Amino acid sequence: MNLTNLKQEFLDRIDKVFNIDELNVLRLDFFGREKGKITAVLRNLKNLVGEERKKIGAETNVLKKELEEILNRKQEELRKEEGGDRLKKEWFDITAPGVNVLKGALHPITKTIDEIQNIFYKMGFETADGPEVETEFYNFDALNMPKGHPARELHDTFWIKNPENKLPITYLTGSCEKNENLKNKEKLVLRTHTSPVQIRYMMTHNPPIRIIAPGRTFRYEAVDASHSHTFYQFECLMIDQDINIANFKAVVLNFFQKFFKRDIKIRLRPSYFPFVEPGFEVDFTCVFCSGNGCSVCKKSGWLEIGGAGMVHPNVFKAVGYNPREVQGFAFGFGIERIAMLKYKIPEFKLFYSGDLRFLRQF
Ligand code: DAH
Repeated sequence: MNLTNLKQEFLDRIDKVFNIDELNVLRLDFFGREKGKITAVLRNLKNLVGEERKKIGAETNVLKKELEEILNRKQEELRKEEGGDRLKKEWFDITAPGVNVLKGALHPITKTIDEIQNIFYKMGFETADGPEVETEFYNFDALNMPKGHPARELHDTFWIKNPENKLPITYLTGSCEKNENLKNKEKLVLRTHTSPVQIRYMMTHNPPIRIIAPGRTFRYEAVDASHSHTFYQFECLMIDQDINIANFKAVVLNFFQKFFKRDIKIRLRPSYFPFVEPGFEVDFTCVFCSGNGCSVCKKSGWLEIGGAGMVHPNVFKAVGYNPREVQGFAFGFGIERIAMLKYKIPEFKLFYSGDLRFLRQF
């Protein structure tokens, strides 16, 4: 190939080079040690003789220099271009304000339930569930409150109209198992407490039992700073052969200390609930004044939290357990109440207001 053609070929090709990689290919094609076209011409010189060898040798060296210079210039250009492009592509204004991502958050009641569950999980309790529309059987009868029992009247109950005597939908689709003893003539209620979950669980499981059952409950009550027709409770049930009140105190104390993250004492006062014997009300150290007496605890140093007791033999009979073989404790505490104390929330109705100014604080 003559040198003029070689040069022309080189010039045509370099015109179509648009980046460093392509340039490197071109460089190899002309100056590569093995297959470079200029290299080949130089290698071929040894086959020539005399004047011709001298002439071609000199011309080739001139051409080589020239092409190398062109290559280097092109390389310089490409480097600049590529560097500039990258800067342009990757440039951003680090001083510009960020995009504000709106984050949702858990409702304080959900958050409180999560905290309760986590503490109880660590003590080996699992969470059980039941429907919010209950039958009289689970809400009252099986809890030792037969028809005509005065304690029924203490629960200001929402009764559900059910002219066709249909089972609530939760029985058919819900997470609870269908009770074979269910009589279709039973009346339905919005559950007045979470205690019916005890019955459901015991009817479908054998001891030993360690459960908590957080959930929504309903009473026909006027709304004020500490009451509502809709509220949350959590039930606890621990059954085995010899569970006693000392076990109860240990579990509850551990719960309060973990929940409020401080040293708390509890106190039991005798009380009456039909489904326990003995029964008691549970108080714990006022978290506002550490027991010294303040307006929140009405100067007593104690706050009431809920009811508890040793499960009544009649309840065991109702679920088919032998009361001589098993025993255990149960309690039911108000969730809003402990959330109000922990997060210093002054009004019950804030939980249900949907007021973002309140909710954003959690
Ligand atoms: N269910 C009761 C109520 O809502 C609270 C309660 C008291 C639950 C004693 C219990 C218990 O499990 O043992 O008023």
